[in-house]
Amino acid sequence: MNIEQNIIDEIVDKSDIVEIIGKYLKLKRSGNNYFACCPFHNEKSPSFAINANKQFFHCFGCGESGNVITFLMKYNGQEFTEVVLSLAAQAGIEIKQDKKFSKEITQQQKQHKTTLFEVIAKVHNFYQNNLVNASFAKNYLTTRGLSSEIIKKFAIGYANNTSNLLSGLFKDYLTNELLVEAGLVIVKEDGTRFDRFRDRIMFPIKNVKGQIIAFGGRVIVNGEPKYLNSPETNLFNKSQELYGLYEAQKVIRDKNQAIVVEGYMDVIAMAQYEIDFTVASMGTAITEEQIKKLFKHCDNLYYCFDGDIPGQKAAWRALERSLMLVTDIKSVHFIFLPEEHDPDSFLRKFGRNAFLQYKETKSLSLTKFLLKQLCAEIDITSNEGKAKLISIAKPYIEKIINAPALKVMLKKDIAELVELVPSALESIFNNRSRYAFYNLNNNQLVKSKKQIPKFNIIELIILNALKNIAWVVNYRLPENIDNLSPEVQEMIIILDFITTSDSPAMQDLTDLFNFQYLNLTKILHQQDQQDFIELTNQDFIKHLDRLLGRETKKMIRIPQIALKSNIK
Ligand code: CTP
Ligand code: MN
Repeated sequence: MNIEQNIIDEIVDKSDIVEIIGKYLKLKRSGNNYFACCPFHNEKSPSFAINANKQFFHCFGCGESGNVITFLMKYNGQEFTEVVLSLAAQAGIEIKQDKKFSKEITQQQKQHKTTLFEVIAKVHNFYQNNLVNASFAKNYLTTRGLSSEIIKKFAIGYANNTSNLLSGLFKDYLTNELLVEAGLVIVKEDGTRFDRFRDRIMFPIKNVKGQIIAFGGRVIVNGEPKYLNSPETNLFNKSQELYGLYEAQKVIRDKNQAIVVEGYMDVIAMAQYEIDFTVASMGTAITEEQIKKLFKHCDNLYYCFDGDIPGQKAAWRALERSLMLVTDIKSVHFIFLPEEHDPDSFLRKFGRNAFLQYKETKSLSLTKFLLKQLCAEIDITSNEGKAKLISIAKPYIEKIINAPALKVMLKKDIAELVELVPSALESIFNNRSRYAFYNLNNNQLVKSKKQIPKFNIIELIILNALKNIAWVVNYRLPENIDNLSPEVQEMIIILDFITTSDSPAMQDLTDLFNFQYLNLTKILHQQDQQDFIELTNQDFIKHLDRLLGRETKKMIRIPQIALKSNIK
């Protein structure tokens, strides 16, 4: 395999050794160095050092040393090329390979995935057999109304309350890296290992081919967290998978519709009531990838959310993410259950027919839900209220790019609400002066940047970061923010948070921090309204560089893990 040396240098250069090793080892910082307990020999006090400036590690105990590539090769037992390719992918560097080589690599990766699948399948089999003798767990499932057929259909299992249950299954438990990679075993700082899942009902998560890629584990009765999920792995990308899709896909195609719920138990309860075209997103708001995936199987999606506040929020996010994806054929609908219910409890209380009837009579189409929500806090009988509706509806209408007919209907509905003829409404929508600032294109922005106050640039960076999390992940934020101006410091805190948390949790940040200079609530509102200029990645980097360069001469690198602890 020939990867040119200068490309390898570039890859090493763009990969931050501290950040990468920080994913595997718990690091303690001391000046420009970071220390950890050496993963390559047994030790209690840390003698494994990373020099951030030289991007080099050295263990004073056992003498191991090298750069980021050497570390990953040794730590993960990977081949040189495998490491280089995955680092290149993370750093966004494209590698042109000769065909023979790329085939070799694909084969290697395939083989690796197969072994990983085998390990997970073996563990799952074990958990599933365990359930037979776990009467407490079995009783729990029975009290929740699950039949043995359904338990079998969803291949539900049980992990005993033993910290290294899986060592009975794997003789090489103490050294098996696949168990760690699959997220089934956790390695502690001192090198000791324990099972991730203990005393939990185990729900296997399958890909669409039926291979198990991860688990969700529920405590029996009480405990925290209620559900513990596998971490993201090579096989499991939670923003792309849907729980229950494998089991439901055929019916979804036959019925040309799918119901999307929030929880594992909801999917299972629905299936038990023969509403077996139901899937769940993975504990977060549904993503664009998930919606696209479902639209490949059917034309009609019904989002069914819990009636509580988080359910309402999840519905709004689902709406925002659906606007761009609906077409005049493919549509989404919203079912809001009564406040105290989720699909599982609703079915058990009222039964199948009641649910189906509720779905038929109470579900809202995308445009109905949108208008209802937009009008919620507006007095639509007043001129001001009508004007406001026109103004706030605009960005949502603009997001409907694949459903021209639906877009016209929506505008017609709005025109009726504000008592204008559609053409009058259209001309208001087309009146650019009202939105002058937001219609600036990038060039104009760059040209006039001197007049735009710095705060706008910061807001712009944050808004673009929220939209393109990968940009922030790939950008190296400065370690030491003490010398930066306070508003830039606040920006760095926000940017870091963006990379370490899911976007719905952004609101937490306003609760956690008392931002003195930035108005995060306003920024988040702008995000919701799509009221901002979209930068290119290049401009994003340029502006950010300039902001930081202006404030600080010397930039040092920071590992994400350390930033995370700053915030908590
Ligand atoms: N979830 C999670 N981690 C948690 C809580 C919830 O991943 N700590 C995810 C799970 O996928 C769960 C879904 O969010 O199925 C919905 O959570 P919740 O409504 O709290 O649970 P229920 O599905 O109602 O679970 P149950 O009926 O078993 O109490
Ligand atoms: Mn529930």
